Amino acid sequence: MMNLQEIELKDLDSNTFIDKKIKEIAATVGDGQAINALSGGVDSSVVTMLAHKALGNRLKSYFIDTGLMRQDEPQQIVSWFKELGVAVEILDAQKQFFDALKGLTDPEEKREAITQTFYKDVFGKLVRESGAKHLLQGTNYTDIEETVAGVKRQHNILEQLGIDTEEQFGYIVIEPLIELRKPAIREIGRITGLPAEIYQRPPFPGPALAARVIGEVTPERVAPVRKATVIVEEELSNTGAFQYLAVLHEDKVTGMRDGKRDYGMQIEVRCWDSEDAKTGSATRLPFDTLEKLADRITTEVSGVVSVTYNITKKPPSTIEVV
Ligand code: XMP
Repeated sequence: MMNLQEIELKDLDSNTFIDKKIKEIAATVGDGQAINALSGGVDSSVVTMLAHKALGNRLKSYFIDTGLMRQDEPQQIVSWFKELGVAVEILDAQKQFFDALKGLTDPEEKREAITQTFYKDVFGKLVRESGAKHLLQGTNYTDIEETVAGVKRQHNILEQLGIDTEEQFGYIVIEPLIELRKPAIREIGRITGLPAEIYQRPPFPGPALAARVIGEVTPERVAPVRKATVIVEEELSNTGAFQYLAVLHEDKVTGMRDGKRDYGMQIEVRCWDSEDAKTGSATRLPFDTLEKLADRITTEVSGVVSVTYNITKKPPSTIEVV
């Protein structure tokens, strides 16, 4: 794959890596300003710490509220980073994202719409207004590998697909974590001083809940996934699984409630055992846990009449559905 060499966790010298990246970021940005897209996931949080160390207050960190985030996520991320001395501004871009996603059902078209809205509309405007020339982001080795292999176009892959960001969007993208996979990124996070609740967070995709809605992504269709995600995360966070998620299906099914027909939504639960997201298999959850998930989701998420658990391996499955 290209000429990029992975640094595996066993070969990682964290302090040397961190020093090198801080120097590189400082040298690339020079005495200018940089912008950083913090989603609160492990990768973007680690990038924020590295860039904050390299640039101090010449780094402007934004949390883009796409309308696709998890329950209370924007406020949670801002408060975590405030404690670390990093100011994060929330930018409400919900309307832009839902407008761009309107009518789209094809997974790759949905990802492309999110990419364009993110990089061209939202960040393009921020960069033009701030005068920053650089955007930092947490692209990792797995993202690149899957995109280049044509498995899935990860929303944050640009340069590797031949996209000249400077020409197309007006800024240069810096990707300090490009040689690392998740376990190594978590270790860097730990050494840079992130709290365990951040560096041990399960991965969460850039396209956020849009990656978990089959079919059109509207505010009305994101809402049940968001509610089901709260339940899935509450019930499965102590399993030690790599990642767990709720998915909204496109087709409805016949159910019953109070003795009457209830034609309703289907939620699929996935819970993955994996080392690095490259391959994975379903966690062997106790049946009681599965039943509790089904009971809670059908009771607490209105309109849901069916809950399934996916037991397929990756490959041929992928971790997210979109
Ligand atoms: P897949 O679904 O390809 O996911 O098996 C592999 C890992 O990457 C996460 N993921 C993404 N992360 N942008 C991201 O930043 C994306 O577009 C994206 N899609 C998937 C996914 O959650 C899993 O950990």
